[in-house]
Amino acid sequence: MDVIALDSPTDAQIREWHDVLAAVHAADPAAHPLPGPDRTARLLGAGSGTRQQLWAVPDGGRFAAVAALRLPGEPGTDRPGEIDVQVRPSHRRRGLGRRLLTAAAEGLRADGRPSVIAQVLAGTPAVPFLESQGFECVLTLRGMLLRLDDVPPERISRLLAEGPAGYRLVRWEGTVPDEHAAALARAKHAMVDFAEYDGASWDARRVREMAATVAGRGDDLYTVAALHGDVIAGFTEIVVPHGCAGRAAQYDTAVVPEHRGRRLGIWVKAAMLAWLAGERPGVREIETDNSGDNPHMIAVNEELGFRLERESLEYQAPTPALP
Ligand SMILES: CC(C)(COP(=O)(O)OP(=O)(O)OC[C@H]1O[C@@H](n2cnc3c(N)ncnc32)[C@H](O)[C@@H]1OP(=O)(O)O)[C@@H](O)C(=O)NCCC(=O)NCCS
Repeated sequence: MDVIALDSPTDAQIREWHDVLAAVHAADPAAHPLPGPDRTARLLGAGSGTRQQLWAVPDGGRFAAVAALRLPGEPGTDRPGEIDVQVRPSHRRRGLGRRLLTAAAEGLRADGRPSVIAQVLAGTPAVPFLESQGFECVLTLRGMLLRLDDVPPERISRLLAEGPAGYRLVRWEGTVPDEHAAALARAKHAMVDFAEYDGASWDARRVREMAATVAGRGDDLYTVAALHGDVIAGFTEIVVPHGCAGRAAQYDTAVVPEHRGRRLGIWVKAAMLAWLAGERPGVREIETDNSGDNPHMIAVNEELGFRLERESLEYQAPTPALP
């Protein structure tokens, strides 16, 4: 079985790809609900917003395994590539995962990337697989879930009313308005404490690139920020996936160091929940990953009603360590 590169996948190849995801999803514990076939098509399509390379291993007209390597930013940047390998349960332990990783390693070298990251669930075969291929665990993430039916509306109104003096809330959908772009990039730096594995700096261009990636997939990005003068003191982002089946994803939340300790984090999150309740009533659950060494954010999420669901691990490998 050979690895083939999919430069611009055909409809039939996209269907096969989705079929591999569905087979893996049915057999393994999953962090997220299976995306619909049209979302898979968008993720693989040219409009996905981030450069990526795709490979598959065909076996008798079907795909036995697939891999996607996302390459955020420009070639040669320090930012790590992001790899995802999926092998049908019926085809495991035959070296297909390793062969796909070898193809991805060539892609990383050609793009001048120093390293690659992968996010996997604790306790799954992905852990021994990555550890056997030169990866090391760099971050433990607590996957938490908020069921909105379990959140009394009074809790949200109380938290909203408790907003600290001297701050005001702003919100936008999609790309950040120009007047807040530089301030949002500065606030994103506040997250670097918790994301040292990807410590690349944030600027207004990268903030817009992230929004374009989300929009390219057909997903909707919502942002709520607390302003102190013109400064974004804290913000939170939610992404509602295209064809949302009821579950939205928490993206970044941060409060800049000078403004911490004033309950701004829970305030912007409560404002987000109030906004979504009116704007996107179909959203019934929100999932989030918190770094295990970020007790403040975990406490904020627990106060809102998030509960622990699973543990995820971020693995990273320097490109030279790959097969
Ligand atoms: C993780 C995954 C991609 C591995 O694919 P695979 O084709 O079975 O892996 P390989 O056959 O190339 O395995 C290479 C080595 O990894 C290690 N490995 C892989 N699966 C393992 C397992 N279940 N238990 C222990 N070691 C394992 C072994 O050292 C193996 O070498 P060996 O078979 O000679 O002992 C596959 O299990 C999968 O698709 N899981 C679900 C999706 C997922 O979590 N993807 C990871 C995202 S990067």
